[in-house]
Amino acid sequence: MKILLAAQKPFSPYAVNKIGERAKTDHELAVLEKYSNQSDLVNAVKDVDALIVRSDLVTAEVIDAAPNLKIVVRAGAGYDNIDLAQCTARHIVVMNTPGQNSNAVAELALGLMIYMSRNLFSPGTGSELKNRKLGIHAYGNVGKLIAAHAKGFGMEVYGFDPFVIDEVFKRDGVVACKSAQELYAACDIISINIPAVASTIKSINKDLLGCLKDNAILINTARKEVICEDDLAAAMQTSHIRYATDIKPANHDKMTEFGTRYFATPKKMGAETEEANVNAAIAAINQIVNFFKTGDETYRVN
Ligand code: 3PG
Repeated sequence: MKILLAAQKPFSPYAVNKIGERAKTDHELAVLEKYSNQSDLVNAVKDVDALIVRSDLVTAEVIDAAPNLKIVVRAGAGYDNIDLAQCTARHIVVMNTPGQNSNAVAELALGLMIYMSRNLFSPGTGSELKNRKLGIHAYGNVGKLIAAHAKGFGMEVYGFDPFVIDEVFKRDGVVACKSAQELYAACDIISINIPAVASTIKSINKDLLGCLKDNAILINTARKEVICEDDLAAAMQTSHIRYATDIKPANHDKMTEFGTRYFATPKKMGAETEEANVNAAIAAINQIVNFFKTGDETYRVN
């Protein structure tokens, strides 16, 4: 089978080698990295049976251009970049590799909390994480790791996740909130870890932002789509809320007017560690090899 690794934001060379080594016994591997036009991806999928991607856009056009395509693996957690309906209509299996890059994202979230608490390392008095109340909005793989790391800093951890039972929070020593509103009102720092799905898009809006403490810090290592950006800019005008994001908002230029109360990483950095690259790459190629060998569909999302 022909497998294409398409990564506009490339994996580390070591991670790419790992994919090649695992693929080579039974399969052929092609690599498309740092491409600048979507048409490069469309052209590259013409004869492929399997596709590994990161945040690359697997649109209907890409799928239509790949008549042999049988499986797409998103080497990462969020698969909002893949046209699932189109894949399902073509009987193409879509998988992600949950948990493989979570620690990298969790560590970045903690880093952003410190950076914002110290006013982007600009002169002046900042604050510590110790004894601050941290609210984790969605308690999945990343949220759980952030909770564990935050406890090491002496933070008091709160969580809200409608899909997680109270016993799980209790087991982890996390205070369970009954709603996002309760979480946002109770905490000094909020870590956003919700996926971008129909029910969450723009869900962090005026109403929810209105629950925040006046000088709360909002950390977004999830997706920009979950925030109503206009509402956030308006809330920042009338309060001292601070916002750090790993996904540059559409209104970035306007947001820079908030000075040290706003920070966006130049490029999405959450999963940009050697460890996360290797973990996600190995998981992705293993899932493809096993799928072709035994029909294993673990981590199928469509
Ligand atoms: C994910 O969904 O796994 C993260 O957002 C990382 O995405 P990336 O592979 O595009 O860096």
